[in-house]
Amino acid sequence: MEKERKTEVIRSTAEMREVVARLRSAGETICFVPTMGYLHRGHLSLIEAARKRADRVVVSLFVNPIQFGPNEDYDRYPQDFDQDLAACRESGVDYLFCPPGEEMYPPKYSTYVDEERYSRHLCGISRPNHFRGVLTVVAKLFNIVCPDFAVFGQKDAQQAAVIRKMVADLHFGVEIMVEPTVREEDGLAMSSRNIHLTAGQREDAKMIFQALTRAREMVESGVTNTDRVEAEVTNMLTSRRRLRVIYVEVVDSETMERRREIVSGKSLLAVAVWVDEVRLIDNTPL
Ligand code: PAF
Repeated sequence: MEKERKTEVIRSTAEMREVVARLRSAGETICFVPTMGYLHRGHLSLIEAARKRADRVVVSLFVNPIQFGPNEDYDRYPQDFDQDLAACRESGVDYLFCPPGEEMYPPKYSTYVDEERYSRHLCGISRPNHFRGVLTVVAKLFNIVCPDFAVFGQKDAQQAAVIRKMVADLHFGVEIMVEPTVREEDGLAMSSRNIHLTAGQREDAKMIFQALTRAREMVESGVTNTDRVEAEVTNMLTSRRRLRVIYVEVVDSETMERRREIVSGKSLLAVAVWVDEVRLIDNTPL
């Protein structure tokens, strides 16, 4: 029989630990979905996967200041607690963990987690301390929530790769699950940042998925040279007035390192663009 799920809101790490201890002693498994809130269908697909995998689902909601650079959009990151809570209730989340900023980063906080290889490519170049911030908060959340499983989205492929590496290197006892990207009808990948797009920007942003689709078609028709694929995708993106390319790269799907030849099943085309002042990323396996 389906368990009743009410979504209890937890606002302190001590309380979260108590809940985890209770669940553990009752022999229940935990699947964890870390988020920064403003939940959309992409998050809901992670929650659905979590529900299928474990007895209990914990979602965290924390806009992590240390993964944003000094001139990035921390201050205007979209937030809507009531809407997020309603979404958690509807999708059967057991616990919504909202740790206070002062508990996560008290004064004189000075410990960080860094990964020195996979994180140094792609977004690691244009956002130098981003993955250090992500890994630090994810490691802290793993230590508080002690999940058996944790779910991340393929849209943030590099983030998932870097987290898998941290989990392996630091012997975290959690299994990382990665769920497919959820897209709008026209192909735009779901992202909390899409809310910032005007109608015109939204129209130009459609080109990202069209360019990824074209890349897949090229590879299916036998192209293996990454320069050709990257050039075609770059041309398509820059044909739109509001798009500026940050990177277009074919990389190894595990290590995120640049590849000169496409190896079927092991290559990923990753792109990041500015749509005017909104930064979007997307990718496709090749
Ligand atoms: O993907 C995100 O929303 C964030 O990077 C994460 C994993 C919740 C860490 O703050």
